[in-house]
Amino acid sequence: MYCEYTTFPLVYLNSKLILLKKEILITSDGSHTIYVPYLNETYHSRHGAIQESAHVFIKEGFNSYNHKNKTSILEVGFGTGLNAWLTFLEAKKLNKIVEFTSLEAYPLDWQFVSKLNYISLQSDSSKLSLFKKMHTSSWGYFCEISSFFRLKKLMVKLQDVIFNREFDLIYFDAFAPQVQPDLWTKNIFASMYKALKSGGMLVTYCAKGSVKRDMKSVGFRIESLQGPPGKREMTRAIKS
Ligand SMILES: C[S@@+](CC[C@H](N)C(=O)[O-])C[C@H]1O[C@@H](n2cnc3c(N)ncnc32)[C@H](O)[C@@H]1O
Repeated sequence: MYCEYTTFPLVYLNSKLILLKKEILITSDGSHTIYVPYLNETYHSRHGAIQESAHVFIKEGFNSYNHKNKTSILEVGFGTGLNAWLTFLEAKKLNKIVEFTSLEAYPLDWQFVSKLNYISLQSDSSKLSLFKKMHTSSWGYFCEISSFFRLKKLMVKLQDVIFNREFDLIYFDAFAPQVQPDLWTKNIFASMYKALKSGGMLVTYCAKGSVKRDMKSVGFRIESLQGPPGKREMTRAIKS
């Protein structure tokens, strides 16, 4: 892995304004991810960003859900937009209608995101304008990315939002529990349980025992599934 590009956005962390360095790295499948030295954390698995997203959120999430007319998805952490993008491609392939809501507390700017190689690796460059539309669309309300894909980005912290039975699927893609323990609590999982419709499901790359126990304690039925390359397990939590 080597650094391709660096940016220094100004962000508020713990009530302090700091320059938070972010670097673009290449993961084992050739796709990019972002590394945050301050947190010593990457946005995706170093074993393959696209592989991880395609396995955890598309194969075990989107493709494993019994879709009705329209599927409403909540994502925790819009970040690079990779999960939204892969969902868009899959919805197109399977002829599904998707309403995608994504929370992001620290948005990335398009100038930085445009350096990522997700479009050039996966599809022809004509798709770049759709990926750009996802990133540059307004915050706070649904924007039509295409006739079958609507996107609502919310610039909020997960801890500050209350949802009620609105979603079929949740992509829980927060930074790891050791980096952001406040996003992996029983209270947060109770709020995710409430956000789902009956029969809805949450998928995450995390397979930590305490996380699965806390999810179970708020009502979820837990399935431990094979993880993406480089990771033994991942988790699916179902609201029965
Ligand atoms: C592991 S990254 C994944 C991002 C994205 N799904 C992707 O594929 O690029 C976690 C994301 O959660 C965002 N985040 C961090 N704290 C948050 C919070 N309290 N509420 C909402 N999003 C948060 C980060 O800025 C980052 O974009």
